[in-house]
Formats: sequence, structure tokens, C-alpha cells
Amino acid sequence: MHEINIAIDGPASSGKSTVAKIIARDFGFIYTDTGAMYRSVTYLALKYQVSFTDEMALVELIKNYPITFKQTEYGQLVFANGQDITKAIREPAVTNNVSEVSAFPSVRAHLVKAQQEIAKPGGVVMDGRDIGTTVLPEAEVKIFLVASARERAKRRYKENQSKGIESDFETLKKEIEQRDYTDSHRNASPLRQAEDAILVDTTGMSIDEVVTAIKSVVKEKK
Ligand code: C5P
Repeated sequence: MHEINIAIDGPASSGKSTVAKIIARDFGFIYTDTGAMYRSVTYLALKYQVSFTDEMALVELIKNYPITFKQTEYGQLVFANGQDITKAIREPAVTNNVSEVSAFPSVRAHLVKAQQEIAKPGGVVMDGRDIGTTVLPEAEVKIFLVASARERAKRRYKENQSKGIESDFETLKKEIEQRDYTDSHRNASPLRQAEDAILVDTTGMSIDEVVTAIKSVVKEKK
């Protein structure tokens, strides 16, 4: 039987990956973090000193360093041409430049094609910014997760604290707002809610509550 696909979109730090991973695990689906793919290209550009403004050179990086995922009991690992870059793509230098890289139409075209290949067999939970609008417009379930910038910065701040990373709350909030703005105002598939996506505002909701809300939508479609 062809399983359904689930698209989860939303702005930075809205909790997409946390809930997408739980939903994938509980339904036995494959989780795909498309943000990790844009982050990988940004990481490679930093590593090989490719300019963030050189669209064609960025595309060459995608061709030369194929991005792959591996599911392990400790979570999902990300590789570029076989090298484990799971941690490196979360560094602030990557986070603060990824929106510039992801705005290029040719970069998007290459990564969208790879994402569509992953989702072809079905049974995928994919999170990102344009999954419901562009990557999987036929996805059976589409969720658009939002939360106030303050709430999202608070979550990021706590997460950093638990990892022993020093951060400044106001700076985190500004960075989140800046990334939202750039992702929503680019010409190539900007961040926006698909017409048939269900909006879930997670401000004040626990992870369990969000997961339960999404699962009830999934069960109706399965
Ligand atoms: O989800 P995450 O915050 O890791 O995504 C990093 C960046 O990748 C986003 O800010 C956005 O610029 C880009 N992105 C995108 N389209 C997607 C997923 C992520 O443009 N489907």
C-alpha cells in the first residue's frame, strides 16, 4: 500500500523538527529535515570559501558533495559526500547565512528534486518552509506550525542552556525575526502557508499537545 506523506512547514524554531521526528517514529515513517540540506550547502560554502552570492558555484557544491541522511538510534545524521556534518551545520555561522543561500532558485531546484525523490515511495514526514506549497503539493497531510517570535526565542534559549551554550535572549529573538523575514520575502518559493494546510499555533502548547493535534489529522487521512 502506498503510504501518505506529511508536510510540516513553518518559521524558524517553531518546533517542526521536534514534532516531525516524534510523528515519524510513532507511525514508522521516514523523517526528512530539508532545512539540513540548505544548511549543508551553506556549511560547504564556508568550508570551501565559495561566495554566498555565487549561485552557480553553490550549485556545483551540491553536485560534488551529495547530501545524504542516515537514521540511527540516536537520531538522524547528515553527510556531505560521506563526511558526517550533523553538528557542523548547526553552528551560528551556518544559521546566520543559510537564508541567503536558500534564496537562489537553482539551489532550490536541485534540493527540491532530491526531496521529491525521497518522498516518492510515500511514508515520509518532511519539514521545511515550502513542502506543502512546492515540494509535495499533493501531500495528504499539510501542517503549518507557528508560534510567536518571543516563544520561539525562549525555546531556543532554553535549548542552548541545556547544551551549555551561552546565548543572549534578545539577540536570538532578532536572529529568528531576521530569518523569518528573509525566508518569507524571497521570490523563489517563500515561506507561506499552503491553502490546504492546517494552521497550528503552538504558542503555549506542549510538545505532547502539538503531536496529539497533528496525529488526529493524520489518522483521519490514513
Ligand atoms: O529548518 P531550518 O531552520 O534548519 O532551516 C534553515 C534554513 O533553510 C531556513 O531558514 C531557510 O532559509 C532554509 N529552508 C528553505 N526551505 C526549506 C527548508 C529550509 O528555504 N524547505
